[in-house]
Amino acid sequence: MGDGQNCDSRSLSYELSGVVVSREEIAYRVAGLGEEITEFYGGDEVTILPVLTGAFVFTADLVRQLSMKIQIDPISVSSYPGTSTTSQGCSFRLPPPENLHNRNVLIVDDIFDSGATMDFLINAVSTTPLTSLRTCALLRKQRDDLPERRNLDFVGFDIRDEFVVGYGLDFDGFFRNLPDICVLRTCK
Ligand code: IMP
Ligand code: MG
Repeated sequence: MGDGQNCDSRSLSYELSGVVVSREEIAYRVAGLGEEITEFYGGDEVTILPVLTGAFVFTADLVRQLSMKIQIDPISVSSYPGTSTTSQGCSFRLPPPENLHNRNVLIVDDIFDSGATMDFLINAVSTTPLTSLRTCALLRKQRDDLPERRNLDFVGFDIRDEFVVGYGLDFDGFFRNLPDICVLRTCK
């Protein structure tokens, strides 16, 4: 699935123009990430904060690769409203729970681009004293223009700076159900 599929969204035309990460590559890497994360926590309990909606597919696969006791408390941030493909600033649609005190917290997002969303989330959960705070993203875009971007603790794939959809990632709410991660291009 992927090549050449078209979508008209609010009278703009878009085209899926190639698979960036296949479902097989995703499955293999998510299993590896699960091992890395399980080993890192060494049996400690972890509270996972998936960033909805984009991280729901990734999180569903990742948590089944984790061996320690975990709790899952979804959070939701609005950062790319509607058809915008550049960050419009962040706000909570679903804020973090209030009971994170003394927990090992792992934020799980679908993609790390400018880092603004992760910075916003880290600032928000850091107002509570935590035992630890770690970050995970399935995808990280190469952004040589942003050398000051923060480091993530766990990353699935580094990809080129292109707008991608599938495996939970959307454009204007569409394409989350694609099993592969694909590039979305504007049709001229
Ligand atoms: P950042 O705040 O610039 O790091 O962007 C991160 C957020 O923007 C992610 O949680 C995604 O929701 C969204 N995002 C960034 N790049 C893409 C993309 O290529 N496709 C779909 N969503 C994206
Ligand atoms: Mg997001």
